[in-house]
Amino acid sequence: MTLWTTLAAKAEAAKDTSIVGLFDDADRAKNFSARFGSLLFDYSKTTLQADTLEALIALAEEADLVGRRKAMFGGEKINETEGRAVLHTALRRSDVGVYVDGEDVMPGVHATLDRIETFANEVRSGAFTGQGGSITDVVNIGIGGSDLGPVMACQALASYSDGPRVHFVSNVDGAHIAQVMRGLDLTRTLVIVASKTFTTIETMTNAQTARDMMAEVVDDPAVQFAAVSTSAEKTAEFGIAAERVFGFEDWVGGRYSMWGPIGLPIMLAVGPANFREFLAGAEAMDTHFQETPLRSNLPVLLALVGMWHHQFCGHTTRAVLPYDQQLARLPAYLQQLEMESNGKGVAMDGSSLETVSGPVVWGEPGTNGQHAFYQLIHQGTAVIPCEFMVAAEGNEMGRSRHHQLLAANCLAQSQALMLGRSLETAREMMAAKGLEGDELERQARHRVFPGNRPSTTLVYPKLTPHLFGQIVALYEHRVFVEGVILGINSFDQWGVELGKELAIKLEPVLTGESDAPQDGSTEALVAFLQDALR
Ligand code: F6P
Repeated sequence: MTLWTTLAAKAEAAKDTSIVGLFDDADRAKNFSARFGSLLFDYSKTTLQADTLEALIALAEEADLVGRRKAMFGGEKINETEGRAVLHTALRRSDVGVYVDGEDVMPGVHATLDRIETFANEVRSGAFTGQGGSITDVVNIGIGGSDLGPVMACQALASYSDGPRVHFVSNVDGAHIAQVMRGLDLTRTLVIVASKTFTTIETMTNAQTARDMMAEVVDDPAVQFAAVSTSAEKTAEFGIAAERVFGFEDWVGGRYSMWGPIGLPIMLAVGPANFREFLAGAEAMDTHFQETPLRSNLPVLLALVGMWHHQFCGHTTRAVLPYDQQLARLPAYLQQLEMESNGKGVAMDGSSLETVSGPVVWGEPGTNGQHAFYQLIHQGTAVIPCEFMVAAEGNEMGRSRHHQLLAANCLAQSQALMLGRSLETAREMMAAKGLEGDELERQARHRVFPGNRPSTTLVYPKLTPHLFGQIVALYEHRVFVEGVILGINSFDQWGVELGKELAIKLEPVLTGESDAPQDGSTEALVAFLQDALR
């Protein structure tokens, strides 16, 4: 019997496991949780038991997680389909000695960080100006990894923000750039064009539009542009002066890139010192991930719990529910991080995956989600493992009643999911309201909660830059662990290419410049869109 079949059999048996019953073990909360620094990860409200966890850890060992981890941090070219190292961790390393092709990359990383810091200080202090004076607004134009991380981080660290207002444009839909630019004083606006490749059609189209808009009010728009890219050639072609171009290497994946120059908008908002704290938090998580035994290693445990629910118990989606408004964009960020990394059906060696690929990840902050989709989480027929997050203290209004209500709601949800409400209790409730007979029975059945629904909770004292860095790195490494166990390459994204290629071919069909034949459905849709414009 392989470990996969052993675990599948355990998952089948776990269908009859009562999560509440597992708490007959008075030490369960302690034994099925792990700490790192001031983070606590509780996974006791799941069907996992000691033997299951051992089997999952054996699975990680069998996949050579330890060896693969060493290879990643050591700069080996583990992104085999693109022939690249995977070294976003180098961007947050404070010492030297990370080699790619025999060359220490750390001096270059630190030099770039110093350059971004100098530029950020110039903008923040008013030494760098637009035509109309010091910079009041920054517009970051990028998409995917060149957008989602900085967007999330600027919101997460909003309480630390004391720099210019930072705005983000990502969608090629003209409504996005129009709405963001409207109302800004463009003579005092800095535009950052953020694109690893500097070829992404959405970003290049928005960048061109931003330049045209800027040209209407300033004499030399290029002066108010900066760029972040791996391609110095393309940024020069666009006309951005080299002194405001911040480069990075191909061993930083787009969705792992906010630790370097792609994080420029974050640094502009919160300042270099807070940005370095954010890096230091991530580095602390890197060290924990590398040095802690698998049984108490947070990223490993987060990954194993996720795989238990998805690959073995068959729960197809995973809800991420931060009870932290500042983490409102974390679910969107994780959608790219997890689904672009592990949404693959082919193993590293080209064979078809024998299990299911990564899960659908979705979520919203609490308590908003409670008034939207929690109905389904509690009483729908599909089981959705929930990943709750909550701080002991809020960044705004500290320990006020707002925060106590927020935290109480978070704990109440995981408790409700686990405990549920029996038909018997529901009948008692209806009887107390004076109902009888068939009507009592009918009304009671609507008020039953099946319960025994799994969840985990990540708890932390307060969302500081350091702690936020830890949390993001925790999720990055979780994705890595899951990818290693699945045997896939978590660092390429071939699945996004086909749609891009077809969009390029369809644009002239829509404009009428091409009459290339399409499938029947697409032809009908094109005809409708064209007719609507006549
Ligand atoms: O969506 C595909 C993708 O390549 C992502 O991986 C990447 O983060 C995004 O596009 C943006 O790419 P770039 O930074 O090169 O513009």
